[in-house]
Amino acid sequence: MNTRILLRGSIRRRLIIQLLTGAALLASLMFLVVQNYARDLAGQSQDEILSASMTAILDSASVRNGDLTVDIPYFAFSMLGNISEDRVFYAITRNGAFLTGYPDLPKPVASSGIAPRFQTARYDGEEIRMATATRRLSVSGTPDFVEVTVAQTRYGLRQQLAGISQTVAGFGIGFFVIAAVFGILAAQSAIQPLRQLAGSVSRRGLSDLRPVSAPVPAEMESLVGALNGFMSRLKTSLSRSEDLIAEAAHRVRTPLTTVRTQAEITLRRVDKPENRQAVREMIRAIDESSRAAGQLLDHAMVSFRSDHLELEDIELTRLAQDAVSRLRPMAELRDIDLEIHVPNTAMTVKGDPILMQSALLNLLDNAIKYSPPDSCVHVVVRLKADEGEITVRDEGAGFPKADMGRLTRRFVRGGNTDAVVGSGLGLTIANEVARAHGGRLFLTNHSDKGGACASLSFPLA
Ligand SMILES: Nc1ncnc2c1ncn2[C@@H]1O[C@H](COP(=O)(O)OP(=O)(O)OP(=O)(O)O)[C@@H](O)[C@H]1O
Ligand SMILES: [Mg+2]
Repeated sequence: MNTRILLRGSIRRRLIIQLLTGAALLASLMFLVVQNYARDLAGQSQDEILSASMTAILDSASVRNGDLTVDIPYFAFSMLGNISEDRVFYAITRNGAFLTGYPDLPKPVASSGIAPRFQTARYDGEEIRMATATRRLSVSGTPDFVEVTVAQTRYGLRQQLAGISQTVAGFGIGFFVIAAVFGILAAQSAIQPLRQLAGSVSRRGLSDLRPVSAPVPAEMESLVGALNGFMSRLKTSLSRSEDLIAEAAHRVRTPLTTVRTQAEITLRRVDKPENRQAVREMIRAIDESSRAAGQLLDHAMVSFRSDHLELEDIELTRLAQDAVSRLRPMAELRDIDLEIHVPNTAMTVKGDPILMQSALLNLLDNAIKYSPPDSCVHVVVRLKADEGEITVRDEGAGFPKADMGRLTRRFVRGGNTDAVVGSGLGLTIANEVARAHGGRLFLTNHSDKGGACASLSFPLA
């Protein structure tokens, strides 16, 4: 029985997505943090050089003969030029009035102290970084405030940052790829125990209901516990059903056999023809009930065992010979000869011996029951392609043509049964056994001599 399993999501996919998302977030975070840090560091170093340049200019300011002179030293700008191709600007004011430099340079932010101030502004269509400081000089006894601003464009800084960003992005991608590979491997190994459990359970034989004893990770303890509990309950219930079938067969057949014996004895004692007829009918009814009970229980046993096939190597020739010798006494009672033809080579199939025996006995039972006395029943075992086949052919009138298509259905009997005791389950049993073993039951009538021909075929082991 194949039940469709409803699937929702995949643990492996979910794990991989979560691990990859985590790795991507970490890589982006690393990129942003390092980029920010690099920007701060580069900005800081530009500020330091701007500050040094500005201080050198401010230091060169002096009062000579009561006049303020600013002698800009060469190195004040050369140290800025060293950084890159950046452009440098400056402006010097005295008491707020422009003295020299670039007059339109943005005004620095006002400050009450003399500490250097830094700001970023736009000038001449470009972004610039400005460093400004004020120095107090005394000219002719009055305080004079000299303010120096040195500014520089930020090409170099941007180039430096672009280089760092590229390197960090490379690192980030590398980190992500490595994390992704580890993530996929981790997801695989996380579900590996589940796969192993599924594999070991599905490799088991159908009747193997032992508890799972292989060690499993702690997270799977409850799953394996539930599985073991389920298998143990199933085992108990299966063995109860098997016992029940055997018990029921015993309980039904035994009293019927006793009643039949009593009826036979009574028949010998009764003389009146009408009483003898009544007892005969009673015996027939008992036979019918006994046969029906036996067949019903056999059919229940076949259905039950077909679900849990206990496969063994079965030699078809041996199987046929056993069945023939079991039914020979019954055949002799009707003066029917049982002939068996077997090949020289052994033919082994995988099957449940009890079920296969039951199927064959039913075919033989039919052949003996439905063929005339003094005839012969032929049992032929032969190899047919990759199948082993057992055919039971009799010399009777054959299967009734009108019923041919329905004879394997439960409780269906043909129009040729008359006084023959039966319950209509024999061919049902044979057909179900064949199907449970991947084989088939064929019913035909012998083309020339007419007799019924029933073949059971099973795939070879
Ligand atoms: N060898 C045969 N020759 C002629 N008819 C047969 C033969 N075997 C089976 N049949 C027909 O097929 C029907 C179904 O057979 P099946 O074995 O299923 O039931 P049954 O023999 O009537 O009862 P039981 O369950 O006791 O075997 C029979 O009732 C009979 O009509
Ligand atoms: Mg039968």
